[in-house]
Amino acid sequence: MTIPHLVQYQGSKRNLAPQILRYLPNNFSRLVEPFSGTAAITIACAVYNKAEEYVINDFNKPLIDLFRMVVESPEFVASRYEEIWSDQHYDSIEHYYQIREKFNLTKDPVFFLYLLARCVKGAVRYNSDGLFNQSPDKRRNGTNPKTMRQNIFSISSVLKGRTTFSSLDYKTILESTKPGDIVYMDPPYQGVCGERDSRYFSGISHIEFVEELEKLNHKKISYIVSYDGKCGNKSYGEELPIELQLEHIHLNAGRSSQATLLGKDSVTYESLYVTKDLIKHNKGFAGGKDSNDRLFA
Ligand SMILES: C[S@@+](CC[C@H](N)C(=O)[O-])C[C@H]1O[C@@H](n2cnc3c(N)ncnc32)[C@H](O)[C@@H]1O
Repeated sequence: MTIPHLVQYQGSKRNLAPQILRYLPNNFSRLVEPFSGTAAITIACAVYNKAEEYVINDFNKPLIDLFRMVVESPEFVASRYEEIWSDQHYDSIEHYYQIREKFNLTKDPVFFLYLLARCVKGAVRYNSDGLFNQSPDKRRNGTNPKTMRQNIFSISSVLKGRTTFSSLDYKTILESTKPGDIVYMDPPYQGVCGERDSRYFSGISHIEFVEELEKLNHKKISYIVSYDGKCGNKSYGEELPIELQLEHIHLNAGRSSQATLLGKDSVTYESLYVTKDLIKHNKGFAGGKDSNDRLFA
């Protein structure tokens, strides 16, 4: 089954979704994603109809406004994207900079969609005033409107009428969780590229994050955490403490583009921490068991 996605987004878990979904049961009440980004796991989960309801939250408000609009008004977003995209043909680089300026003034979600579709590596960058300052990818024109339309409508069809959107701090979202919810967390990398990581609006403190997970344990809420302290090909971040009693799994993330460039054959692994009750659901979801995903467990 093809899983739709809106745009390329740095840190997206789209490629790992089949491995992560193995730990989710087939029928549960609500999936909560406090650091949703492009919501790759929520979308995959909804395509397989695993949960009844979804909570999509991210500190990045324009991104959440965009997702809300995609889900609730797909025709409006698809048509406006097509207009903006089609306008770029005379001088596509200049057009990008004009839209970037307009976005910084208005925070219009569809301008943001175009910028995400055209910027370098789908990497969101802000300056110290919170203005989007990423450059255009000069080799690409951004997703073709036809493909974008298909993705927008597919995402809307699986999430409409059962999704709540917010742009709050993750702690507020965790506080609102209730028994029966499953939480998937993919926080920003552990401040390893500087405490004020310009890729996102905010980094998070490791200690505070661990405290929040303790609270979830106390409330007996099931959860999954992607937690890697990687920046480029180096590993910095701390592991989650053993006291949290989580299963630590290493997912096979394939060959890194960096390793490929250097002619190396090294595979990268990404950490996943799973509450013990969810381990039993890993019965070879989506095409059989992958022996690599628990290689170091
Ligand atoms: C690694 S990305 C998530 C990527 C996502 N899994 C995907 O598939 O696209 C981390 C996200 O956390 C958000 N974020 C950063 N600090 C946050 C906070 N304190 N509360 C909520 N979201 C936050 C960032 O805006 C970013 O989109």
